[in-house]
Amino acid sequence: MPKKILITGGAGYIGSHAVKLFLENGYEVVVFDNLFRGFEEPIKILKKIGKLDFVRGDLRNAKDIEKVFHTHKIDCVLHFAALCLVNESMENPGLYFENNAMGSLNLLEAMKKHQVGKLIFSSTCATYGETKYLPVDENHPQNPVNPYGESKLLVEKMLPWYEAFGLRYVILRYFNICGAASSGIIGDSKKPSQLLMQNAVRGAMNIEPFAFTCAKVKTPDGTPIRDYIDVEDLVEAHFAAFTYLEKGGKSDAFNLGNGKGYSVKEIVSEVEKSFGVKLKKRKAVHRKGEYSEIFANSQKAQKILKWHSKKGITESVESLKRWYAGHPNGYKSQNSK
Ligand SMILES: NC(=O)c1ccc[n+]([C@@H]2O[C@H](COP(=O)([O-])OP(=O)(O)OC[C@H]3O[C@@H](n4cnc5c(N)ncnc54)[C@H](O)[C@@H]3O)[C@@H](O)[C@H]2O)c1
Repeated sequence: MPKKILITGGAGYIGSHAVKLFLENGYEVVVFDNLFRGFEEPIKILKKIGKLDFVRGDLRNAKDIEKVFHTHKIDCVLHFAALCLVNESMENPGLYFENNAMGSLNLLEAMKKHQVGKLIFSSTCATYGETKYLPVDENHPQNPVNPYGESKLLVEKMLPWYEAFGLRYVILRYFNICGAASSGIIGDSKKPSQLLMQNAVRGAMNIEPFAFTCAKVKTPDGTPIRDYIDVEDLVEAHFAAFTYLEKGGKSDAFNLGNGKGYSVKEIVSEVEKSFGVKLKKRKAVHRKGEYSEIFANSQKAQKILKWHSKKGITESVESLKRWYAGHPNGYKSQNSK
């Protein structure tokens, strides 16, 4: 019998790419999503690949998630479901603590009750906050500078307390995610996306106006530096983490990045070069909760999970070209927001 994987947030950008990868590898997948920021269309598309069940529910309702474990014998949980907009979290911290922290607590309690002992948790470099040294390794102090990062750190801190009940977990701290499925069948459908490369590509393809907003920070070209990792590389790391837990690996945390920082200006230049266009530039104010420079040391993931990122920003831009060429307006189905 193929093992069943529960993917929370599987109707969203990154989660849907993980669903695709696990189905392609012969696993049965159950997606749990409230469709607040996710879409039904990727679910319909991915059902053609393998056995996929969709449960519409909200993690904030303990009964919704408990029901999933009653109905399905789950082997491992990949937990992507969360709200992840830094600005929104500054405006409404309560929403983030309720959705991301309390929602995760409901998931953990349901797993404990049904004795499901493997979890892969989507965390973020936003748990580190302003960097003390670069590249950032897993031992870097975690001092989030926004409620989004804090809500994720709260979950990281809950996890060890569930080991007494049989849980083994992998925390994956992602840096900045970009790109789409290389076939172009699924991608980021947010309009506008919150993600720089996505929006720059949409601008270059004349789908939506893009103005390169240049927040002034203390970096060589004055724009924030981030570490970009392709979404297909990222979900490969989840597969590696799953294999690691299957083989009895102990609970641990890993950074997932490329190890190289690109400034906002450099990403915009890459998109301009790829399309042979010049994008508009506009001055912007420093965003609240923003930090100037961060990039990852991902050697631990390379060594222990045997994972490394393969794609560079040029390939990510190419995959976005394919995705937006087929879906200039994203998915046709509407999410709640
Ligand atoms: N996108 C990035 O650059 C990035 C970077 C670091 C970490 N992450 C983490 O990766 C994960 C996925 O991010 P994404 O970019 O795919 O976001 P997304 O918004 O596209 O996907 C999140 C999904 O979770 C669902 N969801 C949210 N709250 C829920 C709830 N209470 N109950 C059920 N479903 C709920 C949404 O409807 C959506 O489909 C998040 O946990 C995020 O914090 C993302």
